[in-house]
Amino acid sequence: RRRTRLHHLQQWKDAGQRWAMLTSYDQLSAEVFDAAGIPVLLVGDSAGNNVLGHETTLPVTLDEMVVLTRSVVRGAPLALVVADMPFGSYEVSDADAVRSGVRLMKEGLAHAVKLEGGRRSASRIRALVDAGIPVMGHIGFTPQSEHALGGYRVQGRGDAGEDVVADAVAVAEAGAFAVVLEMVPADVAGRITKQLRIPTVGIGAGPDCDAQVLVWQDMAGLRGGRAPRFVKRYADLRGTLTEAARTYAAEVREGTFPAPEQSFES
Ligand code: KIV
Ligand code: NA
Repeated sequence: RRRTRLHHLQQWKDAGQRWAMLTSYDQLSAEVFDAAGIPVLLVGDSAGNNVLGHETTLPVTLDEMVVLTRSVVRGAPLALVVADMPFGSYEVSDADAVRSGVRLMKEGLAHAVKLEGGRRSASRIRALVDAGIPVMGHIGFTPQSEHALGGYRVQGRGDAGEDVVADAVAVAEAGAFAVVLEMVPADVAGRITKQLRIPTVGIGAGPDCDAQVLVWQDMAGLRGGRAPRFVKRYADLRGTLTEAARTYAAEVREGTFPAPEQSFES
């Protein structure tokens, strides 16, 4: 395997070959997913509610994204690493968007950036692409707008389907290399996937996208509580870690850890 490049994603779409993306926010998860053959890693601003302890993605700063992105790139020799543009880092102007994108590429060592919004963000996407920064779009439900959208809800039901299609077309025409479709009805996502030349990456967007993405702590069952409908848990990391921590603490209390093999002699 060699480093994933943008043209590989296009080749896979043209060949009808689906691929998986996962989020990552640190060196060791990046190492594991890279070695497992995940070709694209997303340093999502979902770090807000999966790493930094916030309730939403909105408080995440560009400085934080730079640090997290750099650790993922260093851990992943093969994956294409996409860094999220956090809320506030691109809304005001095209110039802001390019400045923020440059920081994610130059200091964060990202290979591409992702930003939210379809028609409303087309000019930002074009400005970044013109600066030599590859852009992944993100439409449908866009978490940075969760207050404006009235919470986590499917976008594009009924007549609103045409709005999501128009957003997809705008993102592609602005020069994005791929687009995330979040919480969009499966049939609408399927239509967009057929219509666009660039790959679609679904999350809660049904089986007909070119690729899928999940937040890794959801995928691996590290996050507890009720998961959104679109999540599938492929492991029980929360259970495994809980058991490990309990056993460790019990052995310390009993005096069985550390044993001679974990101790040094003089
Ligand atoms: O921040 C994130 O994890 C994302 C994906 C869920 C698409 O934007
Ligand atoms: Na995000």
